[in-house]
Amino acid sequence: MKVLGINSSARKGRNTAILINKVFEELNKEGIETEMIQFAGSIIEPCKACWACGGQNNCVHKNDMFREVYDKMLEADGILLGSPVYSANISANMQAFLERAAVVGDMNRDGKTMKHKVGAAVAAARRGGAMQAVDAMNHFFLNHEMFVAGSTYWNMAYGQMPGDVEKDQEGLDNMANLGKNMAYLLKALEERQG
Ligand SMILES: Cc1cc2nc3c(=O)[nH]c(=O)nc-3n(C[C@H](O)[C@H](O)[C@H](O)COP(=O)(O)O)c2cc1C
Repeated sequence: MKVLGINSSARKGRNTAILINKVFEELNKEGIETEMIQFAGSIIEPCKACWACGGQNNCVHKNDMFREVYDKMLEADGILLGSPVYSANISANMQAFLERAAVVGDMNRDGKTMKHKVGAAVAAARRGGAMQAVDAMNHFFLNHEMFVAGSTYWNMAYGQMPGDVEKDQEGLDNMANLGKNMAYLLKALEERQG
């Protein structure tokens, strides 16, 4: 089994990546493979609303990471979305990516889809807006027939400068617990599907 992590921070390997890795640690302990894609240094184009993705399970924009990441999502058993909070919501790259992933998914329900995969979302914030960010990412899972894993509290941790989230012990504990719950759900679904 595999979980794909998507980190939409403009900073590679910083707070959002630390949170994703904390979830990954628990998944790895349960024998679940993990991979993190990081958008840092790249620009994801927003949806053009051209609707040309219907029937081809692909997006017309071909010059960014979308296709590679979307393909990996289709192959994964679980998807962990992670965003820093920018302007009290998800980062622009995550917004653009989810717009396109949602429309490609909606327009191609007969092909390979996200149905019955496990999803979870985490956010790193300095002070405010993490709840909106987590909710925005969860909406993708909830309207693509996925199952959302939760934890003991909201899936967020606080910190501004690189590495600051390491000081938010409650946030880190929550990430670890999220990893355990994701593993539990993935294994239960695997058993069910045989
Ligand atoms: C453009 C921009 C906007 C931000 N807006 C917010 C915000 O509205 N609320 C907040 O709590 N933090 C905000 N932050 C701070 C980041 O969420 C915080 O530093 C986070 O830890 C960054 O995660 P990273 O290390 O993975 O990049 C903003 C940062 C940037 C660069």
